[in-house]
Amino acid sequence: MSEIAREAGALLMRHFRERVLIEYKGDADLVTIADRQSEALIRERIQAHWPSHDIMGEEQGLADTGSEYRWYVDPLDGTTNFAHGFPVFCVSMALDHKGERVAGVVYDPTRDEMFASQKGSGATLNGKPVHVSRTARLAESLVATGFPSHKRHKNPNIFFYHQLTLRSHGVRRAGSAALDLCYVACGRFDGFWEFNLNPWDTAAGVLMVQEAGGRISDFKGGNFQLSSRETLASNGLIQEEMISEFGKIFAGRGLEALPDPREYSAKL
Ligand code: IPD
Ligand code: CA
Ligand code: CA
Repeated sequence: MSEIAREAGALLMRHFRERVLIEYKGDADLVTIADRQSEALIRERIQAHWPSHDIMGEEQGLADTGSEYRWYVDPLDGTTNFAHGFPVFCVSMALDHKGERVAGVVYDPTRDEMFASQKGSGATLNGKPVHVSRTARLAESLVATGFPSHKRHKNPNIFFYHQLTLRSHGVRRAGSAALDLCYVACGRFDGFWEFNLNPWDTAAGVLMVQEAGGRISDFKGGNFQLSSRETLASNGLIQEEMISEFGKIFAGRGLEALPDPREYSAKL
């Protein structure tokens, strides 16, 4: 699995150095030749090794034959970064057996970092075991989020971004959900949340977090499902605090008002 991800990562890097042409799937939803070629390569390799397995990939979708095995493939997570020359993107692949996640890899070709996890066997970064952070309070945490491009105006995440910024050491919005989850797994981030992610964004990263000793849920603390429209991951220690903050934000309680830009400019 990691060999395939590494090969796809090398393909992405060749395109990245040349600066690829941008196409549009939606208003601000980019796709490049690199997304398509990377998925084609991954599909080819999976089919050559395991011809009976089903594959759900972001670019080509799923042909469901009812196989016990299903792959979730994001051939390029972080397309917007990639297309602009911002070096934060990866290849994400996960494998389910009878609906249970058994393995996942996320490969960042810009840093040559291979995140890998196997159910019950822990999580590794370039072969070395990794663990979530030990930060116990949100106030001392570095957390991350993301904004889905085509639904940018349809979810209230900007309010969450603002409130969490005020309650933590900071919120990063780097542009690759799969890497964000891996960074929670290896302790670079203490928590991560996002609305409206897709199964190929989360399948590998979620197993990484779980195998590294972290927790995943929806925003109310309920079980996370691949079809969940809410992803909340953390080192486990700050999960309840994040859930409680989210509850307050959804209820509109204790919110610091967003500064009014008109008031700000009038004072200049
Ligand atoms: C996107 C990235 C981004 C997240 C978006 C995803 P893509 O995936 O993971 O970080 O905020 O929600 O759609 O489109 O680059 O594969
Ligand atoms: Ca993605
Ligand atoms: Ca993608």
